[in-house]
Amino acid sequence: MQSGIRSREMFHRASNVIPCGVNSNFRYWGEDKTLMLKKGKGGYIWDQDDNRYIDYRLGFGPVILGHSWPSVTKRITEALEIGNTFAMTSEYEVSVAEKIHELTGVDMVRLANTGTEATMHAIRIARAFTGRNKIIKFEGHYHGFHDYTLWNCYPPVPGAGYRRSPVLVAHGSGIPMKLSELVISVPFNDRELLENRVRENWGDVACIIMEPLMGNTASIMPEEGFLDFVRSLCDEYGIKLIMDEVKTGFRVAKGGAQEYFNIKADLVTYAKALGNGFPIAAIGGKREIMSEIAPGKIPLGGTYTGNAVSVAAADATLDEIKAGALDTINAHGEKLMSGITEILNRCSVPALVQGPPSMFGIILTDADKVTEYRDWAASDHDTYEKIILSLFEKGVMPDKDSREPWFISASHTDKDADYVLNAFDDAVKEIIK
Ligand SMILES: Cc1ncc(COP(=O)(O)O)c(C=O)c1O
Repeated sequence: MQSGIRSREMFHRASNVIPCGVNSNFRYWGEDKTLMLKKGKGGYIWDQDDNRYIDYRLGFGPVILGHSWPSVTKRITEALEIGNTFAMTSEYEVSVAEKIHELTGVDMVRLANTGTEATMHAIRIARAFTGRNKIIKFEGHYHGFHDYTLWNCYPPVPGAGYRRSPVLVAHGSGIPMKLSELVISVPFNDRELLENRVRENWGDVACIIMEPLMGNTASIMPEEGFLDFVRSLCDEYGIKLIMDEVKTGFRVAKGGAQEYFNIKADLVTYAKALGNGFPIAAIGGKREIMSEIAPGKIPLGGTYTGNAVSVAAADATLDEIKAGALDTINAHGEKLMSGITEILNRCSVPALVQGPPSMFGIILTDADKVTEYRDWAASDHDTYEKIILSLFEKGVMPDKDSREPWFISASHTDKDADYVLNAFDDAVKEIIK
């Protein structure tokens, strides 16, 4: 889909001073295709040419309540009366930490600004606490833009080698190859391979860092018992389990994936839905580990951590989550999931629609099940992208990259769902014709 004239003009202006005209490589869709934003409100966004879209990208997940949600805006406005950044703890910070503790069960919390920071800190905490340096991660799991984990996030297949012994592929240039010596990558949901790697390396392994479900690979779910298996391996070998809940936290359940899957990690990272789109993240965990974060022990800091705008946004967002915002979100997601499944079946497009209703994924595949990144890699991304581009033209915007789930907000209405399903039906018929 071509962007409109005003988007194109603004894109060219932006490209002069911003590489690719965007502030994240993931937002670049091509020279005449990158849409530029005018505004967002509730479940909708408008591009520069005043085209309206029902927004299922939600800024890659965070805007769980909807754009410009009134109670969030109000609390931020109130907070700004006292200023923003102090290098001293404000009451909002205490309140947010208490609410995170109450909702998720983590004993203690430190705040950060982004998911990248949170996972970087969590890894350092695990390394410091265990005195070990290596980390185990899973193929297709993404933990942000630091060098520690930008390995085998979206590797080309077969470039990443044989699945039983994956070759470590950096996400791009600038990531020192030396760091790959500290990373072990394993396919998701494979108990045997994980156990082998743990047995061979456990004395050097500080942590297993994982997304509880594959929020960066079409919401592929953990198989029955897999998370418990990882938990028990960690316990047996003194490895810390870091659950990266940057996408799932406060979204798949009030207590995030720990509640959804009934699992307890040693350290948990949150961001996205925590602040309804404002930059805030958190590292939570067990008291015995978190209480070691202190001067002269485990280092952790940041100038903007706990700034008033972000914590006020989180404070108000968590109140809405506590009050039941996820009920509306889940109902909308369930309706879309079953409607989309029915349409794809009826049109004989082999597909799997999976994941929690608040962030479900669609994979076009004739396989009976998908369990790991390589299953996604073997699926039909081109047809998926064509269907989504057709949806863009109809005013519906999930991400066109099939790895990205459909994110639902509390602002999406039942009427939106009916519209989306009609549009999806038309789009599928148009593309498979
Ligand atoms: C699971 C996960 N961890 C970490 C990150 C990085 O978060 P941020 O983009 O806020 O740095 C992301 C971002 O999408 C993510 O999905």
